Amino acid sequence: MLNIALFGAPGSGKGTQSTKVLERYGLVYVSTGELLRSEMREGSELGRQARGIIEQGGLVPDELIVQLIEKTIDTHPDMNGLLFDGFPRTFVQAYILDGLLSKMHTSLMNLISLEVPENECLSRLMERAKTSGRPDDRQEVFEVRLREYREKTAPVAGFYQEKGVYVPVDGTGTIDDVFGRITDVIEASLRSVQLNVVMLGAPGSGRATQARRIAEKFNLAYVSTGDLLEAEVQKGGAIGREIAAVRDRGGLVPDEVVVRLTERFIKEQPGKNGIIFKGFPRTLVQAYILDGLLRKIGSSVSLILDLSLPQLELVKRLDGRGKTPDALPYDRSTTTIVRRLEEHFAKAGNLGAYYEKTGRLVRVDGTGEPDDVFARLFKHIEAASRKAR
Ligand code: AP5
Ligand code: MG
Repeated sequence: MLNIALFGAPGSGKGTQSTKVLERYGLVYVSTGELLRSEMREGSELGRQARGIIEQGGLVPDELIVQLIEKTIDTHPDMNGLLFDGFPRTFVQAYILDGLLSKMHTSLMNLISLEVPENECLSRLMERAKTSGRPDDRQEVFEVRLREYREKTAPVAGFYQEKGVYVPVDGTGTIDDVFGRITDVIEASLRSVQLNVVMLGAPGSGRATQARRIAEKFNLAYVSTGDLLEAEVQKGGAIGREIAAVRDRGGLVPDEVVVRLTERFIKEQPGKNGIIFKGFPRTLVQAYILDGLLRKIGSSVSLILDLSLPQLELVKRLDGRGKTPDALPYDRSTTTIVRRLEEHFAKAGNLGAYYEKTGRLVRVDGTGEPDDVFARLFKHIEAASRKAR
């Protein structure tokens, strides 16, 4: 889910920008000010209680605000995310928001604070007063609202600074200028909350089968460098010919080529929640390269899954596949099976140690039926995906 809060003084442009953000990202709008005004129009009990306070420029009690927000969230069970405008306005409301979102297994991606000088806020509101009909669009009420903002609301920024999701944005200039700055922030965050999974495991461990299922379930782009290389050979261009030549000699395709293809692939994945890598990285050097490639797009590796199986089991599986029509060239003899496994294990140790240090590596038992293995993996990916958002 994509959850954003717009923050800032009265008149800073939260409502104006909300309309544009909602249109671009298809979120559910939670404007406590609008919700209160609609209760007032309907003449509900809650609206009656709120009117006196709003007309004076004060803050409506937290209890009433929570009721309004829960009502809105409950009426939208299948949503992309939430846009909060004018909430949270106090420390208590910041905690409430945390609670509401964690109940939904999600969290706030950004609190975007629109920075506008107070005198400009006032002149904007005085202009709005000519047509808005809002009971609080009066200079003396503005003074009170501003004081409430300075004393109770502005300090809430610290709560979000600590969480690392607070982003100040220049709120002056044209409406489109400000919107451009806001979308830059959202786009950068969206890239960084990508769920990028590296699938490790020996040949025969079932890594491709599982990685494909994960890709489908979590809307990730599946990339196998073997497939990327093969696709390039099929295309028959200069790179393709270079790859084919190396491969036919039984050599390893140079890192430069693998990196170039992987980089291109990473950039070509709009609409996906992230990427799952299989067969890359294979070496320590490639692990550093992958970190660098992802950093370039403001992202990182979120989770490393290592499918563990006893070596004898791997030999049995590869030998078994060698006797089926799905056999790969290197499945056909015990010599090549063993050589391939030896090659894998020679490099796997370094790679495992590198990822171990990130604290994001999980070793998962790869024995048993594919469904059982998938269920074991699923738990870890879901946890990582919650953390990423
Ligand atoms: P609420 O409705 O939330 O008002 P607010 O937060 O004080 O902010 P405003 O709506 O006045 O300003 P805005 O930042 O949305 O600016 P806008 O886009 O309209 O709250 C009202 C009251 O309800 C509160 O005082 C409180 O009593 C109560 N309340 C609400 N939420 C609460 C909560 N969580 N807890 C407790 N109480 C709560 O822009 C202003 C004007 O400027 C517009 O005319 C616009 O056209 C113009 N403008 C916008 N951008 C630009 C620009 N870039 N250049 C020139 N003009 C611009
Ligand atoms: Mg508003």
